Amino acid sequence: MKKLITLAMIVILVLVTAPAVFADAARGQGVYMNFCAPCHANGIAGAPRVGDKPAWSERSAKDADVVISNAINGYQGKSGFMPAKGGNSALTDEEVSAAVMYMLEQSR
Ligand code: HEC
Repeated sequence: MKKLITLAMIVILVLVTAPAVFADAARGQGVYMNFCAPCHANGIAGAPRVGDKPAWSERSAKDADVVISNAINGYQGKSGFMPAKGGNSALTDEEVSAAVMYMLEQSR
């Protein structure tokens, strides 16, 4: 009986967490497509192109928190100006963070 309960709990845990993980990845991609791709898909204004490994290797080497906070707060870098939240202040920090994780994932 105990085994059955443990098994049931594991199944429930997987069912509860799996969609959350997928939803996060999908959300990151959605935010990226809508708000970040205009610059980051083609390297507009000096933006590192998503999928361009050399352009991202230096950035991936940094602490992910730093890269995420640069995306949230904006910064002037060597290649151009990254506007805070890609210029869309309506995005939440979580949405920007999910988009950054998606971009890093696509650029490894
Ligand atoms: C108006 C164009 C533009 C838009 C829109 C834009 N970016 Fe950027 N982004 C840039 C440029 C330019 C840089 C390069 C700055 C540098 O390093 O010189 C950059 C750099 C970055 C970096 C690298 C940060 C680092 O620490 O090296 C991340 C991450 C990033 N952008 C995320 C995003 C996200 C997420 C969005 C959408 C919410 C977004 N960007 C939208 C222009 C843009």
